[in-house]
Formats: sequence, structure tokens, C-alpha cells
Amino acid sequence: MRHAARPVLAALSLTTALLGFATLAGDAAGRAGAEGEATFARDVAPILYARCVGCHRAGEVAPMSLVTYDEVRPWAKSIQRKVTSREMPPWGADPRFGRFKDDPSLTDAQIATIAAWVDAGAPRGRDADLPPVPALSAGWSHGEPDVVIEMPIAFDIPAEGEVPVIDFFTKSPFTQDVYVKAIDVRPGTAGVVHHAGLYVIDRLPDGASLVGGRIVDAGGRAMSRNQVARANGGTSTEEIQKLLSFVPGRGYESYQGDAGQLIKAGSYIDFYMHYTPSGTPKTDRTKLGLYLAKPGQDVGHQIYHSFGAAGPTTYIVEGQPYAPERQRRDDPNSVEGGVNLPNIPLYAENWKVVSIHTIREPITLYGLTPHLHLRGKSMRYTLTLPDGREEVLLAVPKYDFNWQLYYELASPRRIPAGSKVTVVTLFDNSAKNKYNPAPDKEVFWSEQSWDEMYAPQARITVDSRDFRAAKTAAEPQPRQR
Ligand code: HEC
Repeated sequence: MRHAARPVLAALSLTTALLGFATLAGDAAGRAGAEGEATFARDVAPILYARCVGCHRAGEVAPMSLVTYDEVRPWAKSIQRKVTSREMPPWGADPRFGRFKDDPSLTDAQIATIAAWVDAGAPRGRDADLPPVPALSAGWSHGEPDVVIEMPIAFDIPAEGEVPVIDFFTKSPFTQDVYVKAIDVRPGTAGVVHHAGLYVIDRLPDGASLVGGRIVDAGGRAMSRNQVARANGGTSTEEIQKLLSFVPGRGYESYQGDAGQLIKAGSYIDFYMHYTPSGTPKTDRTKLGLYLAKPGQDVGHQIYHSFGAAGPTTYIVEGQPYAPERQRRDDPNSVEGGVNLPNIPLYAENWKVVSIHTIREPITLYGLTPHLHLRGKSMRYTLTLPDGREEVLLAVPKYDFNWQLYYELASPRRIPAGSKVTVVTLFDNSAKNKYNPAPDKEVFWSEQSWDEMYAPQARITVDSRDFRAAKTAAEPQPRQR
């Protein structure tokens, strides 16, 4: 039966699910595997348990579980295709550049093992060879946080339509300053949170109050985070303290070395939520989990999400120097963490943006996150040291909007004053881009995914801004006698 099924399967090579069920019907038990042949139990399960089941198990982001043989078998051909093309596990970094923490990529040998196993008919092998299933906690991926802060209200997402991005504020529970070493976000309801941004606002602007999860001004109007920050005297959105961004498949982030985040007593947490309706009405109440610094974990430096904290940025768009317009002061949805560039013309295929980030004072670099939308094609960050030496920090040759990955450096990197980081980005608004919703339209800049966004994000600390120095300076000096 399974041999008879094979030619049919080959013809159906694109209809993965069908293929799987056809094979499964004839081969539910699986073969033991011939001498020397790769088997599921001995050779493949260890790879899947190490690299796949974090997402491919019940309740996680992937569409199917890949834990047991019976779960994996129907997907064998599809798994072979996805690992050979390096689409799974998701990882966009060109392996020639940089070394990253938690790089999930498979080795060539692991890919060859999976491919050979599938070619041999995906034998099951002996259950005695199976490694233990990894103990993965449900819910919080890194264990129970020290502090969990919930969105102030449950929000109703309609079945259809467009939900404007919205800021929900809640008072933090802290009566004294706390230092955070790791952060996680869990949506209350799967499948409706398109992305979420978590921020800290130090205080309510004069005359404003917190009502039902919104900050309202003296006139009763709800204020956005940007408006709150400006009312508090901030001049740029970069000054707003960002905790992290959540996208499906990426929530958790921790900080190496002495980096962390200071959340001040009496501050407010902002849940900046972008929901996408899913066909049925849903309710969501997303949670923020904080892991606080333990004794001995000295937090000295605040994490910033943009090179902007280290110096000014200049832009070159399609070969021409370009000065982005300032954010419109009154626009509650003005692009956060991104800039407004000229619109991308219709059908433009390799539309190029270069940003040059001046590093005026010494910084430490912890990681990089390219953030573009559906026309994003590639992004490359190159460091130029003061003596002119160049080094590619990260290249993502095939940017994928579905996988907004955080590339954390294997170890933090000191960058001296007088360096610069040049980011080269290509956008593809042509019909060749399979994700392009409308190649015949000019592309505008906003947070909605059908518009574009340019945000070459990073995680840095500025060496001179040391919490401990600030603390010492603030401590009362012994009085002279
Ligand atoms: C970070 C989470 C994550 C990891 C790790 C991951 N996957 Fe996936 N996988 C997904 C998601 C989400 C999808 C569905 C969307 C997509 O195809 O991108 C998917 C889709 C797939 C598909 C295609 C399913 C279909 O509908 O055709 C296969 C096959 C697959 N994964 C295999 C693997 C294998 C094998 C590994 C490990 C080597 C792996 N994945 C690791 C999240 C993950």
C-alpha cells in the first residue's frame, strides 16, 4: 500500500496535507527502519525536540504539533521541503555574518538526516530509542514572571473590519523603582493580536487623568502615547521608554551583561495594541510579564531600542539625501519608531533606503531587529569603525514580515565613539513580491501592514548613562563639620 501510494504522492507534492493523509492511511504504525537507516525515534525526534516543538506543539503558534511519530508522519514531505529550503525553523540572518544567541538554524548534517529519513519512507524506528519529550511549560515560555501586569480592561475585537491601533494605560504596581532583566508578553486570546508594543510613561501630564484604561486630557479627549510624552515635555518619540514589541512567535526578551530596564515608582504601563479581526468576535486581555533583577544581577544601563539614543541619523532614499518630516504633532497614529519617507512608487522593485546612524559616544550593542512591512525585501546593518574598518553586523537577505525576529548578539559588543552604523534596505512593490497586497498602488507610511514602515531597530545601552553613577550623585553627601 505505501509503495503503491508513492507515485501519487509525488504528483501531489504541493498538497502537503493530502499527501500526509494518503500515506498515513497505509502506514499508521510505521516501519522499524532498515539497518543504518535514519529513524524517527533515534535520529529525527532529537532534532525536532531541540528545534521545532517550541512552536510545534498544542497551544503554540504553529498550525500543527510535531511531537509524536503519528503527528509528524503526515507532514514528512512538507518538513523535508521546509528544512531543505531553510524556511523552518524561521531565521533570516545570513550565516556569513555575526554570531547570535539562540540561533535555531539546523546544521547541514541535521538537514541531510531529515531529508534521508523522508526519502527512506520516514521509518518510525524503535520506541526505545526515543529521547524524552522536552518539558516545555504551557503559558509563559520562561517560567512564571516575578510580576504580571494585565491590560487594564478586556477589549472586544469585532468579527470583521479594521481596528485602529489603541493605547491602554495602567498604573504600574511599583511603589519603588525596579530593575527588569527579562520581559515577556502573552496575549489573552490567540490569533487576534497582530502586534503589541509595551511602553513606560513616567507620569500623567498635568490635568490629565486615567479613565477606563485611557489617559484623557483636561478636555476629556483620549491621548496617545506620543501625545502623553510630548505633554510631559518630550520632544521625540524616541524618548519614550519602550519595554518590548510582541509579535506572534516572539515575545520574550532578556538582557545580557548589566543591561536592563528601570521602571520608576508610580509610572504607567502602556499596552499599545494592534488587533486584527479573525472572523468571529473575540475578547482580549494581554499580559505583560516582568522578571526582576535578582541579588547579584547588577543593572547599570538602560536598554534603548534605536541607535537614535547615540546620535543623529541621516537618510538617503533612492540615491538622494532625504530629510524626513518631523512627526505631525497632532497625529495620534504617527509612526512610532519609524520615519515618514517619500511614498514608494507603484511597481518599484528594488527601492532603496539607506540610513546612517552616527555613534557620538561609546555604546554597547546587544541585538538588532529589522522592522519593515509587506514590501520589505532585505536589510543589512554595517558597522564602520573610526579607523574605517567595516563589518557586517547582520544581513537579512530575504526579509519576511511574518517573522519579526530579534537577533541577539552572542555576546554584547562595545562600539566606540566616532563609529557609524549604515543600514541598507530594499523594498519590493512589484508583482514579484508574493506578499504585496497592491503593486499597482503607491505605498504610504504608517503602522498598518498594507502601508510601509522603516525601523532598523537595535538594543543598545549608552555607556556614560550609568544608573549607579546617577545614584551615587543623588545620595546625600556627609555634612562637613
Ligand atoms: C518560531 C516558531 C516555529 C519554529 C521554531 C518552527 N516552526 Fe514550523 N511553522 C511555524 C508556523 C507559525 C508555521 C505556519 C506559518 C508558516 O508556514 O510560516 C509553521 C509551518 C511549518 C510547516 C508548514 C506547514 C504547512 O501548513 O504546510 C512545516 C512543515 C514546519 N513548520 C516544520 C517545522 C520544522 C521541521 C521545524 C524545526 C526544524 C519548525 N517548523 C520550527 C512556527 C515554527
